[in-house]
Amino acid sequence: MRLISNKILILDDEKQFTEELSGFFQNSDIESYEANTEKEGRKVLAAHDIDLLILDVRLPGVNGLDILKEVKVQYPQMEVVIISAHGDMDTVIKAMRLGAFDYLRKPFRYIDIQIAIERTHKYLQMQRKLKHMEERNSLISKNLREKIDRQFIGVSPQILEVFEQAITAANYPEANVLITGESGTGKENIARIIHYSSSRKDHVFCAVNSSAITETLLESEFFGHKKGSFTGAVADKMGFFEVCNQGTLFLDEIADMPLNLQAKILRATEEKVVTRVGDTNQIRTDFRIISATNHDITKGVEKKKFRLDLLHRLNTLHIHIPPLRERPQDIKPLLIHFVDFFTTKFKKPNLRIAKEVFDVLLKYDFPGNVRELRNMAERAIILCKSNTLGVADFLIKPEHANTSGNQSESFDLKMNERCLIQKALAMNKYNQQAAADALGIHRDALSRKIKKYNVGVTKNED
Ligand SMILES: Nc1ncnc2c1ncn2[C@@H]1O[C@H](COP(=O)(O)OP(=O)(O)OP(=O)(O)O)[C@@H](O)[C@H]1O
Ligand SMILES: [Mg+2]
Repeated sequence: MRLISNKILILDDEKQFTEELSGFFQNSDIESYEANTEKEGRKVLAAHDIDLLILDVRLPGVNGLDILKEVKVQYPQMEVVIISAHGDMDTVIKAMRLGAFDYLRKPFRYIDIQIAIERTHKYLQMQRKLKHMEERNSLISKNLREKIDRQFIGVSPQILEVFEQAITAANYPEANVLITGESGTGKENIARIIHYSSSRKDHVFCAVNSSAITETLLESEFFGHKKGSFTGAVADKMGFFEVCNQGTLFLDEIADMPLNLQAKILRATEEKVVTRVGDTNQIRTDFRIISATNHDITKGVEKKKFRLDLLHRLNTLHIHIPPLRERPQDIKPLLIHFVDFFTTKFKKPNLRIAKEVFDVLLKYDFPGNVRELRNMAERAIILCKSNTLGVADFLIKPEHANTSGNQSESFDLKMNERCLIQKALAMNKYNQQAAADALGIHRDALSRKIKKYNVGVTKNED
């Protein structure tokens, strides 16, 4: 008999019957227990995790249906098969209504009990699977809710449009998506939202920054390798493309991707087939690529640093996230969100935000975008000694006052020039040549101005 190790209790006042039935189970993987009175039965139920109770409803002195009713409440996971006498259909109907799973009519053959147990077992297995799936689903949707509700904040028309585009991308899970935007605008955030709102959500979201991987390991990281194919390949390994089967591969900072890797990625993206390093087998894998960059990638194409054919492959859908200073409406809700997050994290409840903070932040430039606002909020909450977050807690440097228009405009030429230079440097990741290009001046002229205005030339100095 091939049954799983269910724990079964046989509760029947006929000792000979319970012994016989128990004997029948001896050669199976069923663990059976016998009880001839209600009291004995309850003891077993309390001591063991019984999966199935075989219950005679005609026990002397008690009503078996009452026992059934009680145990179904007390042990809701347990199934009950009742034993009834020939012709006692009334009891059977009542028992089924009270939640019995099946019934056996005495006298019965062993094959009948075997069939009843198998049926119960299948049912129990299905129930467990269902429960597992429900738990998994609720975990995933909780995760998703957290990811969307708690991390996607914004009310400006620009960010709402980004969100719309993200939802469209989620609805087309085969289309590759390119996300552009300055550093800290929320590109990875949007990539996750697309993944977790798409039909790929139950599979892997793998974020890879190829510029952080050493050149020698790049191919094996992306395509995997066969054991022994090079020193250090101690076991077979799946690459990112395989890991992301049915999921999403997020390629961060694609503009920095080495050219030889670009060619390989293009092929994998077109053919959806990869071969591990040192192997000849072709492995089919179905992934979607979401890529991101804070560079002007068309410039990369012009300078032959980025393949145009790969760019065409990657930007089937293009989402651009505008910098925070272009959507000042988002500053307030984002600040409230981050303050809420960090006051909970650092256990500093009831901290209020002084009105002037909003006024000052609205004039601020945010070269580091949402990430900068987040860091500012975190630091302010750590530094704050009172129950009100004030302007002083935010350590805002006056030279980053936003002069672009929505607030009182400054006509201080020098101040504006300094601000522009800072902006250009931040937008170009402190690459002075790129900043000079953006400003339309010569690199040497920029150097002179940097000195003149004492502008920070690295991220940490600004
Ligand atoms: N709309 C938003 N709502 C809530 N949090 C956001 C939003 N946009 C960005 N953030 C938060 O700002 C931080 C920076 O976002 P993210 O890492 O996605 O930016 P990025 O554009 O990928 O930056 P980088 O170019 O430097 O890689 C993260 O902590 C992210 O959760
Ligand atoms: Mg990023």
